[in-house]
Amino acid sequence: MAKTKTTYYCQNCGTQYSKWVGQCQVCKEWNTVVEEVVSKKEQKKGGIPAGKISKKIWDLSEIDTKEEYRIPTNNTELDRVLGGGIVPGSVILLGGEPGIGKSTLMLQIALHLPFHTLYVSGEESPKQIRMRAERIGYENPNMKLLFETNTQKIFHQLEKFQPDILVIDSIQTLHTDYIESSPGSVSQIRESASEIIQYAKSTGTPVFIIGHINKEGQIAGPKVLEHMVDTVLQFEGDRNHLFRILRASKNRFGATSEIGIFEMYNKGLREVSNPSNILLSTHSEDLSGTAIAVATEGIRPILVEVQALVSSAVYGTPQRSTTGYDIKRLHMILAVLEKRMGFKLAAKDVFLNITGGIKIDDPAIDLAVAAAILSSNNDLPIPSSWAFAGEVGLTGEVRPVTRIEQRIGEAEKLGFEKIFISAHNKINPADFKIEIKGISEIRDLNEII
Ligand code: TYD
Ligand code: MG
Repeated sequence: MAKTKTTYYCQNCGTQYSKWVGQCQVCKEWNTVVEEVVSKKEQKKGGIPAGKISKKIWDLSEIDTKEEYRIPTNNTELDRVLGGGIVPGSVILLGGEPGIGKSTLMLQIALHLPFHTLYVSGEESPKQIRMRAERIGYENPNMKLLFETNTQKIFHQLEKFQPDILVIDSIQTLHTDYIESSPGSVSQIRESASEIIQYAKSTGTPVFIIGHINKEGQIAGPKVLEHMVDTVLQFEGDRNHLFRILRASKNRFGATSEIGIFEMYNKGLREVSNPSNILLSTHSEDLSGTAIAVATEGIRPILVEVQALVSSAVYGTPQRSTTGYDIKRLHMILAVLEKRMGFKLAAKDVFLNITGGIKIDDPAIDLAVAAAILSSNNDLPIPSSWAFAGEVGLTGEVRPVTRIEQRIGEAEKLGFEKIFISAHNKINPADFKIEIKGISEIRDLNEII
């Protein structure tokens, strides 16, 4: 009998150790290092189906560089994020927190595909999936279900069924015969995934792998998977809000700057093709403390509403809290307002909120943040027909932002009357119908408001 070989893996980041340690030296988490049995059993015959593509040695000039063929998914948001559709033989990892809607998204995509799709589920019972499909309200005889968690048994079925597209829900439930540690452990995930990737590459079948991520934002344990797959998609959003954002954090076949926006409703996920319309809250009268920012996500401009509430601090230390905006940037903007404009904000609580539950990293919303804070502090409303796009620097200067033409165009399209941008942004006002006002110093905001 072969000696059992064990090794230690950090369940958080996947780092391997030869002996147990209390704290992972890489991710600094405590008590995440676990012993796993990794003795590989002899590979039996009939595991992974034999490859269709023979390996040959290429001359670079022989290789066809024609645009890669892509399979459209009938879902514009997903296609955009993937860079135009699914590339045959590619492996796409879809990560997201439990309950965010990964299974719903994949089931919905599978139900709309005109190809033979096999949905392998190790998480939910046939009844649950049937009920979800009924809720989505779509039927597709081309989509088949398989309830199996053993990879060898899955490959056995795949050999018979030969699907055009494969969905694995989720990688954490799979286990392979060749590794003895429990499902969900780092070595199981790594081995199961590598078998699936080998299957995808040898047969040219695209595979979607669903993976749960923990609250730290890493695909639990299998951060290790990210370098193995072709594309890593993150499905994110606030579970209490309706909006979900699909982002590519890695894409071998396209850009990673595009995002897809979905709305969760009672019949699955709806594509949001014009996000600005929905992200702006619907009140007709002007209220103090709100300002509209023109942000961009990928190459798409979107308008978001920034809400600020400035009130006298009840306790000694004032509170600062944000949703959807970086708290450090808020501290920076408050310091700039204090230093450059002499506002006594140190004794005030400041709350900041981006409506719609989405998170924006674009620095172009700084100007709207500063405007919303001033508006709330002075209790003077900003007209709801005004929009802002500018970055605020430490010296109080309003800095130009990228894609300004698209931003102005979007604000104009949505019926805004005035847009405030950096005076340093070079644009021709005659190109636009909307009134454009350039400001160079944050101080100038005061007169405006
Ligand atoms: P699910 O796809 O099971 O999440 P994950 O696979 O990422 O764990 O999503 C479940 C959530 O979505 C659940 O809270 C219910 C909600 N939901 C809707 O709001 N509408 C729907 O039509 C469906 C199918 C689910
Ligand atoms: Mg699920």
